[in-house]
Amino acid sequence: MSTTFRVNRIQQTVDVDPSKPLLWVIREQLGLTGTKFGCGIAECGACTVHIDGQPVRSCVTPISSVEGREVTTIEGIASADGELHPVQRAWIDNQVPQCGYCQSGQIMSASALIANNPNPTDADIDAAMQGNICRCGMYGRIRNAIKSVGVASSDEKLFYDVASAEDATEVDHG
Ligand code: FES
Ligand code: FES
Repeated sequence: MSTTFRVNRIQQTVDVDPSKPLLWVIREQLGLTGTKFGCGIAECGACTVHIDGQPVRSCVTPISSVEGREVTTIEGIASADGELHPVQRAWIDNQVPQCGYCQSGQIMSASALIANNPNPTDADIDAAMQGNICRCGMYGRIRNAIKSVGVASSDEKLFYDVASAEDATEVDHG
């Protein structure tokens, strides 16, 4: 059964089992390996992507459920011309990554938080990020980075603009 949806501004059609998790379609059919597998049971956050701007665990999201929807992965949060997302810049400035394995999921959760709440409190950050596990224990730097985005970006666009994304490109993996 085929599913058509958009990934990082590009329309994609895949012909796979409708129960196949979005995570594995992203990685295997589309070759976007920035989204990681950790637990497979929605407990670690490593596989976090956005669907219509909201953070979801792609390891437990059947591909059939994204028909007609907009998926954004870590490869797609920079602007179309390649400018890093403010959260990505804050991650670099605060030297957040250690081993890096959890980081794409962390950034996807943080960018969704910032889009809705540009100046989150510690409690807001804890609530938004509690499902993202970091075995390297970078929680303090993650919090500092999120806070620095709000300070640095008060007049800046904080999220990719899905509405302005190009619709021209279509890829059929059927
Ligand atoms: S791999 Fe999806 S939450 Fe852990
Ligand atoms: S940076 Fe290593 S698990 Fe988070």
